[in-house]
Amino acid sequence: MYLLAVVGVLAVTVTSESVTSLRFPPGFQFGVATSAYQIEGGWNASDKGESIWDRMIHSRPESIYDRSNADVACDSYHLWEEDLRLVQDMGVDFYRFSISWPRLLPHGFSNKVSEDGRRYYSAIIDGLLERGISPMVTLYHWDLPQRLQELGGWTNPLIVDWFADYARVAFSLFADRVHTWITINEPGTICDVSYRGFLAPGVKDHEVGALLCTKHVLLAHATAYRVYQKEFKPKYHGEVSIANQESWFEPKTDMDLEITLLAREYLFGRYSHPIFSATGGWPPALQRYMADKSKREGFSRSRLPAFTQDEIRLVKGSFDYYGLNHYTSRVVRAAVPGEPLQYMMQGIEEVEAALETRPHWGAAAASWLKVNPQGLRRLLQLIKQQYGDVKILITENGYSDTGAQLQDRDRVQYYRDYLEQVLLAMNEDAVRVVGYTAWSLLDNFEWVAGYTSRFGLYAVDFSSPLRPRAARASARFYAGVARAGARSVAPAHNTTRAIQ
Ligand SMILES: *[C@@H]1O[C@H](CO)[C@@H](O)[C@H](O)[C@H]1NC(C)=O
Repeated sequence: MYLLAVVGVLAVTVTSESVTSLRFPPGFQFGVATSAYQIEGGWNASDKGESIWDRMIHSRPESIYDRSNADVACDSYHLWEEDLRLVQDMGVDFYRFSISWPRLLPHGFSNKVSEDGRRYYSAIIDGLLERGISPMVTLYHWDLPQRLQELGGWTNPLIVDWFADYARVAFSLFADRVHTWITINEPGTICDVSYRGFLAPGVKDHEVGALLCTKHVLLAHATAYRVYQKEFKPKYHGEVSIANQESWFEPKTDMDLEITLLAREYLFGRYSHPIFSATGGWPPALQRYMADKSKREGFSRSRLPAFTQDEIRLVKGSFDYYGLNHYTSRVVRAAVPGEPLQYMMQGIEEVEAALETRPHWGAAAASWLKVNPQGLRRLLQLIKQQYGDVKILITENGYSDTGAQLQDRDRVQYYRDYLEQVLLAMNEDAVRVVGYTAWSLLDNFEWVAGYTSRFGLYAVDFSSPLRPRAARASARFYAGVARAGARSVAPAHNTTRAIQ
């Protein structure tokens, strides 16, 4: 913390002197993001159905670090016009938000569409368009209807059709005005983190449940993609993809290359290879590893469920761009037998990989978020290397603090340094990055971290019933980058490197 404080001071002192350019090419799109459950509140407004997060928060309040809940959150259910004004003030090109499945379909199924739900999202979309901001809509950002969870949620293969039905309703209502869609946000978090019990629904079954979820989430995405492609794209010409959360993983030593490749395939390739590779299906090395391991464990078949040839074809190529959420980096080494491997904090038990960070990487309020800007450039290079010259949209990137300050120098530094790496990837490595999304517009309900971890460009005072918003320094910084191609941005990273 002390080191970060020193860096922060230096970052400010050099601002007026040496200046570098964070100038992005014309047409590059800047946006800010939120998600429904994290900001809306109104959890029981009108006929909204219960979500798995509503259920977990109310039945097990101790699962949230500060025992807070999102019943009101930022109250964006009522204050959405205020939010749009903030987005407009920043001068960004698009606003990424999500639709709450149980707000639009209170029963989870498409037999009943909520009139108030429809009106709420329709008003946000119209409000954005009136302000010259493009809406970018996520269909699923983790708030599954509780009723569907009780029917097995993401482990039930029928969810593929339920999700496609929901997607068709959303496309029917909004595709005339929304041209960029994200089907599912962070499938890895939905399956691997949730099915280790860390997030709603809090089911602990990573051995089988997480991997069933993996297959169904991919099929659900692909089926929704095909619905759009067949029924809506000819008329509206929009774009649809999935947003994968990927960290940069590098080997600790030359001896750790193989385990690093396996860890990458387990965590990231499992959700990208089936969609973005030329061959489709599971990453071959991971498929072999899981088949062998399952056999040794006495299972009758691989715990990683097989795809049929038709399923491989359905999923392969179900994208119009590569959606990337990126925050942090890890160093990978082979685990020592018996070593504790708490998921993502210490390692990945499934592939017996230990995860470490480098001592000079910066810290954030979220313990998992270590700052290594170069990791983003390397990851962008890797995506290009693996999947070809795909169009990449960075759908999330951002930094958490404890929210005490409006002068959030560490967050400004984070954005400055990560954006610089995006530019380097574009200019030096010819990676086709077409847009960048800051997470997040507002401080919001950060899942099990409650309100202890703040990602907002705008601060929100959760102690006031009015939930007032206030711009942080990072909001002004980001507005500058988005508006002007940022004519004058200090290269504070040089100073940072020198100290470290
Ligand atoms: C909605 O939930 C709040 C708690 O967040 C509760 O006080 C209120 O009575 C509920 N309203 C309805 C209509 O159930």
